[in-house]
Order: sequence, then structure tokens, then C-alpha cells
Amino acid sequence: MQKYIHIRRIGKKLQVKEKNNLKEFKLENLPGDFIDWQISERKKMFGFIESGKKPSFFSPHLPSLITWNPKEKDFPMNLACKGVGLVAEEQKLEYLIEEINKILEEVKGLPFKETLGRRIDAALLLYRERSNIDAGALGGIEIFETTSFKNIIKNPQVSLFYIGSLPGYRSFQINCIAEIQQSESIFYKFMKSMRELFEEASFHFQQPKYPFAIKYHVIEVLDKTLKLRHWKMDKQ
Ligand SMILES: Cc1cc2nc3c(=O)[nH]c(=O)nc-3n(C[C@H](O)[C@H](O)[C@H](O)COP(=O)(O)O)c2cc1C
Repeated sequence: MQKYIHIRRIGKKLQVKEKNNLKEFKLENLPGDFIDWQISERKKMFGFIESGKKPSFFSPHLPSLITWNPKEKDFPMNLACKGVGLVAEEQKLEYLIEEINKILEEVKGLPFKETLGRRIDAALLLYRERSNIDAGALGGIEIFETTSFKNIIKNPQVSLFYIGSLPGYRSFQINCIAEIQQSESIFYKFMKSMRELFEEASFHFQQPKYPFAIKYHVIEVLDKTLKLRHWKMDKQ
């Protein structure tokens, strides 16, 4: 669904059509470096919560989403923090939804703490095999349908800005085409199953229902990680 904009994938290209205006974007893959960083941070977080600790923030999962409304003359950009992470390859979505839902059924009604290990097992079904990951996309859920969402409806060209924690402060700007996914789509169902695994966790804002998922098609990745700047002192 994209009320005004139609998004169509043709091989490694994405066509974005608004009325008579057609734009074409070349799809890019997330760098291996970014995928490794996401997986290793996720695994670290699982270890952290399994040991009973409560995280204060999980920045590798919480980029800023920058959307753009050209009708806003002075400040057309809009920023919001969104949960956005790795997603499964299209061919693996059905299998993973099925396996994750089996585990969700098994843990239903049982105390969250008691079932945490099984929930992590379920999430690792995605992260354990690198070949499960769709290097061309990221995914999130849309809860509020506020300014970011309204901007995406009119203009799906968005940026995600990730900053990791110290010591490395890994940071990436990922320019994407955001595609709204309704509840019938397999992508939405995958995002829902993944989210349900940790819905009750203390680090989540409780939000059991949400109308849409967002698939972020990767167009460009800029590595903004800090690097040492070498100064050449001017001779006087
Ligand atoms: C830690 C954190 C995580 C958030 N994650 C999401 C999310 O995954 N999905 C969502 O729709 N909003 C999320 N929000 C809410 C948005 O940041 C924002 O408050 C909301 O979209 C309203 O801003 P907007 O009018 O620019 O859209 C999150 C907020 C915080 C503080």
C-alpha cells in the first residue's frame, strides 16, 4: 500500500511512480560490515537480557528516521526514533514465520522470564544463518501514523541514521525507499512475529497492535563511523 505512490521492483531497480512522475532507483545491498555489526549487537543484547540485566537503550536497533515534506518551507525534514532492524530473505519469510509462531504458541500464557530462552532461540533462527538475511532491506513497524508516516505516504525517499555505542560509535546513514506494508502482507506478518517475541520485555514500549510495517529498500549506505583525523601541522 502506498496511497499516492506506487512502488515496483524490477530486478535490481525500484520504480517509484507518483501520478505522472516516475523515478528509478538502483537497489543496493547493506555492507557485510553493517550486517555483522547488527547481528553481533543483537546477540550481545540477548546475552545481556538473559543474564537478568535491564538495558537502558539499544541504539543499534533505534536509528533516527528522517523524512521529508517539501511543503514545509523552512524545515521540510522530520526526525523520529524508530525501531528498525534486519529482515529475512523473501524466500525464507514463510518458513521463519511458521517456526517463530510455533514457539510463540508454545510460550503463550507462560511468564515472560521463564520463556526468555525459547524466545531468544526463535529470534536466533533469523540471526544464526547469515544467508537468512535480506541484504537489500530493513524493517520496522509503524505505530502512530503521525508526521513520519504522512511524509512517507507522499515521499518515500527517507534516511535512517544509526549510531552504535562506544567504543566504536559505528554510524551509518542509509538512504532508502520506504514501502508501507499492510497486515495481509507476508513482510508485515514476519515483522509481527519477530516483535511478539519480545513485546513484553521491559525494554519495549508496550504496543501489541500496530497498523503497518515499513519495508526500507536500501538505495545507498554511507559509513559515518568516526575515524582518526591526521593533522599536518603548518610549518611557520
Ligand atoms: C525508543 C523509541 C522507539 C520508538 N520506536 C518506534 C517504532 O518502532 N515505531 C513507531 O511508529 N514509532 C516509534 N517511536 C515513536 C517515534 O519516535 C515518534 O515519537 C512518533 O513517530 C511521532 O513522531 P512523528 O510525528 O515524527 O512521526 C519510538 C520512540 C522512541 C523514543
